[in-house]
Formats: sequence, C-alpha cells, structure tokens
Amino acid sequence: MDMQVQVIPPIGLGTFDLQGRAGLEAMNSAIGAGYRHFDTAQSYGTEENVGKAIRRSGIDRREFFITTKITAANLGRIERSLDESLQVMGLDYVDMALIHWPAPDNDPPVCNYIGDLARAQDRRKTRMIGVSNFTRRLVDEAIYEIGGGRLATNQFERHVFLQNRKLARHCRDADILVTAYMPLARGGLDESSDMKRIARKHGATPEQIGLAWLMEMGSVVIPKSANPDRQVVNLAARDVRLDERDMAVIAGLDCGRRYIDPEWGPTWD
Ligand SMILES: NC(=O)c1ccc[n+]([C@@H]2O[C@H](COP(=O)([O-])OP(=O)(O)OC[C@H]3O[C@@H](n4cnc5c(N)ncnc54)[C@H](OP(=O)(O)O)[C@@H]3O)[C@@H](O)[C@H]2O)c1
Repeated sequence: MDMQVQVIPPIGLGTFDLQGRAGLEAMNSAIGAGYRHFDTAQSYGTEENVGKAIRRSGIDRREFFITTKITAANLGRIERSLDESLQVMGLDYVDMALIHWPAPDNDPPVCNYIGDLARAQDRRKTRMIGVSNFTRRLVDEAIYEIGGGRLATNQFERHVFLQNRKLARHCRDADILVTAYMPLARGGLDESSDMKRIARKHGATPEQIGLAWLMEMGSVVIPKSANPDRQVVNLAARDVRLDERDMAVIAGLDCGRRYIDPEWGPTWD
C-alpha cells in the first residue's frame, strides 16, 4: 500500500441515504463530475456502493479519499470491524477512519478505545484517523491518550446557521482539520435572504455560498446530493471567492440551529 501523504480533497460527497442501485448511480455520476472524496460509515449501508463505484470507475484507487466511521457497537472491536468494512468495500485500506460518535455518557470513556484506532492506523488499515461529534473536552481526552499530531480531523455539524466557532478554533489550535457535516443545512440555505443576496452578487447559488464560506473558514465539506446537476453545482463552489463583507454578513447568520442532536449524544460545549 502506498502511504504517501495525500491532501484531503476539500469537497467530498456525503453518502448518507445513497443506498441501493440509485445510490450507486449517484456515486457513479459524482465520480464522473470529478468527486474523488467519499464520506461513508458502517451505519449508513453505503460502504458497499462506495467500494463498487471506485473499483468500477477504472480510476487508480490512490486518487480517491475514502472516509468510513466506526459505529458505537464496534467500539470494543475497532480493528475487526474495520477489516469487515474493508471487505464490504473490496478495498485494502481506507484513507480515514473516524470514531462516529463518542459513547453515550462517555461510557466506555475515550481512553478505552482511541488507542485501538491508532493501532489500526499503525497496521495500515487506514492512512489517517480522526473523530466525529467530539466536543472540546473529548478531543482533549483523545489527545491525552494517543498524543498530539495523530488525529487528522474532527467531523461535526457545521453550516452557516451553526458555525461552531469555539470547537473549530479548539481543533485548529490542536492541528486538527475540521470536516463540516451537513454543510448545506439539509438543503435549507435558501431560507436566508442574506444568503440569496450574496449568491446573486456572485452569480452563484446559496448552497455554493454556504460551501465556499466553510472552505474559507478552513473546513473540508461533504455535501450530499443524489442529483447529478446539484453534484456539479456543489463541486463548483471551489471557484467562488467571498469578500470580507460577505464573511461579515454570514457571521451574523449563526443562530445555533443544530439538526443532529440525539439524546444519547454528548453535551455540546
Ligand atoms: N458524522 C456524522 O455524525 C454525520 C451526521 C450527518 C451527516 N454526516 C455526513 O455529512 C453528509 C452531508 O450531510 P446531509 O446529507 O445530512 O446534509 P447536507 O449535505 O447538508 O444536505 C443534503 C440535502 O441537500 C440537498 N442538496 C444537495 N445539494 C443541493 C443543492 N446544490 N441545492 C439544493 N439542495 C441541495 C440534497 O438533496 P438531493 O440529494 O436531492 O440533491 C439533500 O436533501 C452526509 O451525507 C454524511 O456523509 C455525518
């Protein structure tokens, strides 16, 4: 396996919901549009489609960046579950493996399992490791256990209505890249007249503005679309450049609107 350092592509395709034949077609169209980064998880039921789409594309595996996430039930068997994911995908390694959620009530605590994720990386099952839905305190617990410089990313909900600046700053200070999930606020960005106005100014769509803003803030984004045209639109957000005025207006849209907040989830800080 080639372990050369590969930069994380700033836009990936979210694959939640992209199951079955329609899901596979959506992944094929995404590859055709130029996506090389896919975000899946053991719990999404989309790992198989991601593997199929990549293998059938005829494109060198090393051009892709594949993230999967370890589900809560597998925290006690991280490496074996990663082996199962690789088998389902038909791949030798993933590029990123994340702990999908901290355990409810932090029981078992982070120190009980994060070392196992680091060992799976040492054994080259994954090129990079990270966490998802980890608060500042939980990030610190993980770093305390496995040392600084090992976690490549923390993936959490981030969009113009939930800017999560404290957590993002905390991650940046620890050299951990932020991956913004649900970056399109589930397709709800056009509710904002400010977003529509900024979009008109740039000849863009509110969704492109939302993605461009996150990338300007230093986050990787993983918008999901099953629609080939919208996949192209989202990828073209790479070409949108926001100015200081736009950034200031968007800063004012933060209203703490959190879409994903399970009662067993961590206490957000
Ligand atoms: N780590 C975690 O716990 C976690 C939690 C949630 C999500 N995620 C990841 O983040 C990814 C993205 O989140 P998400 O899928 O919930 O939400 P999202 O990407 O914010 O929004 C997806 C919705 O927006 C629509 N859409 C996409 N592009 C659009 C465009 N250009 N214009 C208008 N509507 C558009 C999609 O519909 P169409 O498909 O019809 O285009 C879909 O309904 C997930 O797929 C998953 O990979 C991770």
